[in-house]
Amino acid sequence: MTTRFSDIARRRISTRAFLDTPVGKDEIRDILDTARWAASGGNLQPWTVHVVTGEARQRVIDTVRMRLEVDPFGDENDFGAYPKSLWDPFRTRRHALGEQMYETMGIGRDNKPARLNHLLKNFEFFGAPVGLFFSLDARMNPNQWGHLGMFIMCVMLAAEEKGLATCAQEAWMTRWKTVGAAIGLSPEERIWCGMALGHADPDAAVNSLRSERAEVDEFTRFLEH
Ligand SMILES: Cc1cc2nc3c(=O)[nH]c(=O)nc-3n(C[C@H](O)[C@H](O)[C@H](O)COP(=O)(O)O)c2cc1C
Repeated sequence: MTTRFSDIARRRISTRAFLDTPVGKDEIRDILDTARWAASGGNLQPWTVHVVTGEARQRVIDTVRMRLEVDPFGDENDFGAYPKSLWDPFRTRRHALGEQMYETMGIGRDNKPARLNHLLKNFEFFGAPVGLFFSLDARMNPNQWGHLGMFIMCVMLAAEEKGLATCAQEAWMTRWKTVGAAIGLSPEERIWCGMALGHADPDAAVNSLRSERAEVDEFTRFLEH
């Protein structure tokens, strides 16, 4: 498989069904060893990564599952993933993604239980044997949250280069306190998002989803005069 950056960037997708094939610690370390070269303002490198596998992974899954049963609304949160009411074109894009994703799985608009069931798979890392959580010091500004995002993208591309699949998961953000307790996060740290990492299930319909993108001219202004 080619390792050209432009190919890796175009090939990567969010994988939402994984095989249980293990991923070696050396491989995970290698991915992070590449991602650590991500740029960050002032070279703060404001990220911390928490890798959960084996029993630690299961503990997170079980703890969150128990919490979901008693509290369907999520942990108290002052950094919602999206603005309260999205506007276009963003609202349409988000809606389109959801509809296209459920379509790949043959889940209709009215099948709320099946849709919910799929959403809950987030909290099992979609079956991936490796879970990652990305945190940063809660005192950081939105600027540093952006830099953490750049780091996360590098993790996804480094994994893709190795033939491994990922799905960044903001779903975990809604359970940041519960996850924090399960992984022993220090009180100063905030989890921004999680990630599933592993081998994609090639037979899972959901992994056939290829999300759309706006054309360059839709989001770019070339100012020459
Ligand atoms: C920071 C971040 C958080 C995300 N959170 C989730 C999530 O919780 N669950 C999920 O299924 N997909 C999640 N995604 C995947 C996005 O839906 C996906 O990146 C987007 O639709 C573009 O599709 P692609 O990644 O397949 O190219 C997330 C992506 C990013 C970058």
